[in-house]
Amino acid sequence: MSFGGRTILAGVMGWPIGHSRSPRLHGYWLRHYRIDGAYLPLAVAPEDLPTALRGLRALGFAGVNVTVPHKEAVLAAVESADPLARRIGAVNTITVAADGGLHGTNTDSYGFSQNLGQAAPGWAADRPALVIGAGGAGRAVCVALLDAGVPELRLTNRTGARADALASEMRGPIEPVPWAERADALDGAGLVVNTTTLGMTGAPPLDLDLGSLPADAVVCDIVYTPLATALLRAAAARGNATVDGLGMLLHQARPGFAAWFGRDPEVTPELRDFVLADLA
Ligand code: ATR
Repeated sequence: MSFGGRTILAGVMGWPIGHSRSPRLHGYWLRHYRIDGAYLPLAVAPEDLPTALRGLRALGFAGVNVTVPHKEAVLAAVESADPLARRIGAVNTITVAADGGLHGTNTDSYGFSQNLGQAAPGWAADRPALVIGAGGAGRAVCVALLDAGVPELRLTNRTGARADALASEMRGPIEPVPWAERADALDGAGLVVNTTTLGMTGAPPLDLDLGSLPADAVVCDIVYTPLATALLRAAAARGNATVDGLGMLLHQARPGFAAWFGRDPEVTPELRDFVLADLA
């Protein structure tokens, strides 16, 4: 890596940022494709976000990813945001235009659907899907599933009002399901996705009785620490196909890398192993 002035710069802004796997992931691709670039962890406190965003142009950055807790704030701060970012209500990828303006998009729904298509190509898009969680990640997954054409999207969230708000805001066949009735909503489903933080190391497990889930349904978790969550282990034990959360992380990174560094990178088993080796 040379820093002679032509090195392409990108990074990820978050607070805290030490946990982010993105520098490792983008670093792998930069080395693999022998690109003269650097992808840096950028610890930006919420009160410094506007200054940090303005600094991107001055520092010559090609762009950045944005992560917790900045994704929603950045939507309001960029000069332009595409319709997808507006639908999701958050930006996770910024490119700096030639005139210095910041353009925001969101690649989370792309990452989710690319990974689902690759890991479970036969998933039934013509059957109802159950999405658990109506937070930021839940919004991106709902957009992906609506765009895939699911006929009925059952949405459940501990705080019911959040699921109701999402359903009324996003056009499409979203049916809010009370949290207490989530197990019943598995009936006839072709896909279940956990988008909550439940099941993550240090958080309680997701309490969900899979008894009514059809045997051919696919079960996805977007949690990737641990990779085999209690939900995925319970699903696998009864014979359901499972999709873990790491693939979405890898795929959501591709559009940003392509925009900044000029090469559409591949998600390979070697990349997955490299990122996995660093997971707790
Ligand atoms: P993200 O952007 O990662 O989705 P978020 O917007 O904070 O983060 O959403 C976290 C999700 O996990 C929400 O669906 C949240 O439910 P609430 O809207 O009721 O807060 C869910 N969640 C977190 N802890 C939970 C718990 N103990 N029980 C049930 N749901 C929980």
